[in-house]
Amino acid sequence: MDWGMQNRYNSLFNKKSGKTIFFAVDHGYFMGPTTGLEDISKAAEPLLPYTDVLMLSRGALRNGIDPEMTTPIALRVSSGTSILNQDALLHEGWSVSMEEAIRLNTAIAAFSITVGMPVSERDTILDYSALIDEAERFGMPTLAVTAVGRGLERDARYLSLATRMAGELGARMVKTYFCEGFEKVVETSLVPVVIAGGKKIPEKDALQMAKNALIAGAVGIDMGRNIFQSENPVAMMRAVNGLVHEDLSVKQAYKIFQDLK
Ligand code: R5P
Repeated sequence: MDWGMQNRYNSLFNKKSGKTIFFAVDHGYFMGPTTGLEDISKAAEPLLPYTDVLMLSRGALRNGIDPEMTTPIALRVSSGTSILNQDALLHEGWSVSMEEAIRLNTAIAAFSITVGMPVSERDTILDYSALIDEAERFGMPTLAVTAVGRGLERDARYLSLATRMAGELGARMVKTYFCEGFEKVVETSLVPVVIAGGKKIPEKDALQMAKNALIAGAVGIDMGRNIFQSENPVAMMRAVNGLVHEDLSVKQAYKIFQDLK
């Protein structure tokens, strides 16, 4: 890695633990005003002290986040379909230039690929590859998001395929889903892996999933709804911090949530 790439990449990790917590609030780019994110500023700002990387769209960043923020930014640079168009969902293309990403002080650029989807697979892979060429030219790491289309199983076989492909294409980090046998996904990946949280589940279950992913070798988590839709997002985020950065057990982390909520 050259200096700029290395510097951006290093900024993604907590210096003490070497792990990372991405707080994902990018859902609006295809889901509109998602529950819990109606007001981006109110949702994100109280959590910034406990966030290693804030993941969002350029519009949410410009309109919802104070430029005094020093938290590294994972910028969503793919889009193309909305939640209304279920047949084409996640048929995304490259939507934000590298010049714009740099103007917004981005630390990593996030792009969704849809491995296995009949219509969108080829487009998302080729567009992501074009983005990587440009991103590497500017010293910008990219995060491949392995979006899972309808009808595909989120199992170790599928997620290993998608994660390995993303690394082979040139991703510097991959965001994928947790699954049974997640060790296989991590072991066969060429680059570090973080897990997405997915739909809201009870706090203790979300903490357990994060713990299992860390034990299996994930370098961190990229969690959204299980934090901002929690009955107490700050308490949940602090519990997640204990788990990821202080190696607490699920029981200890959940106690943090219960004590603070
Ligand atoms: C989806 O592709 C978005 O990028 C979200 O950032 C991602 O799914 C993580 O958020 P959540 O934990 O809510 O799934």
